[in-house]
Amino acid sequence: MSQYSTANLILNSLKKTEEFGFLLGKLVRLGDIICLDGDLGAGKTTLTQAIARGMDVPAEPPVTSPSFAIFHEYQGRIPLYHFDLYRLHSSDEALAVGLEEYFYLSGCAVIEWSERAASILPEKRLRLELRLAETEVRDVFCQYHIQAWAARWRNLTEGLGISC
Ligand SMILES: Nc1ncnc2c1ncn2[C@@H]1O[C@H](COP(=O)(O)OP(=O)(O)OP(=O)(O)O)[C@@H](O)[C@H]1O
Ligand SMILES: [Mg+2]
Repeated sequence: MSQYSTANLILNSLKKTEEFGFLLGKLVRLGDIICLDGDLGAGKTTLTQAIARGMDVPAEPPVTSPSFAIFHEYQGRIPLYHFDLYRLHSSDEALAVGLEEYFYLSGCAVIEWSERAASILPEKRLRLELRLAETEVRDVFCQYHIQAWAARWRNLTEGLGISC
């Protein structure tokens, strides 16, 4: 049996994405891995910013895409490790730059363009694939590790009044 469950979720406004990210940020724990995929402009960084707010990361400096640095760290209720793997071409390249060990630091890792390092991602992950449907509407395909996320996923979607 698969260790993952899937769900489809519609975030029909920027505000909804912000609410979802904020609640998710409230729920994260040490060791969590949140993978964000989807095209340029799909909303990965916007969602990360909302997660950061939910984690009580201070508003300054702002959470921005670490495209060039690959990795930024912010201090919230627990540390937030924000990755952007857009510039990587393969899991091998991710291994070569020693990325793997950063996934296991004691904080919550949010990884934009996680598919670039698909074969080295930790198992216990929540993966959200965002797709631009309309100007403000995002369809989100969600996959979560059941043991790590099922109970929290229920709280999250109930808290938002989203059925999926
Ligand atoms: N429902 C929504 N959810 C998320 N973003 C939205 C939504 N509606 C509109 N937007 C806008 O879409 C844009 C998303 O940009 P963002 O930088 O977050 O994308 P990204 O996926 O991180 O792109 P990149 O791959 O270039 O890093 C923002 O300008 C945001 O305000
Ligand atoms: Mg981004």
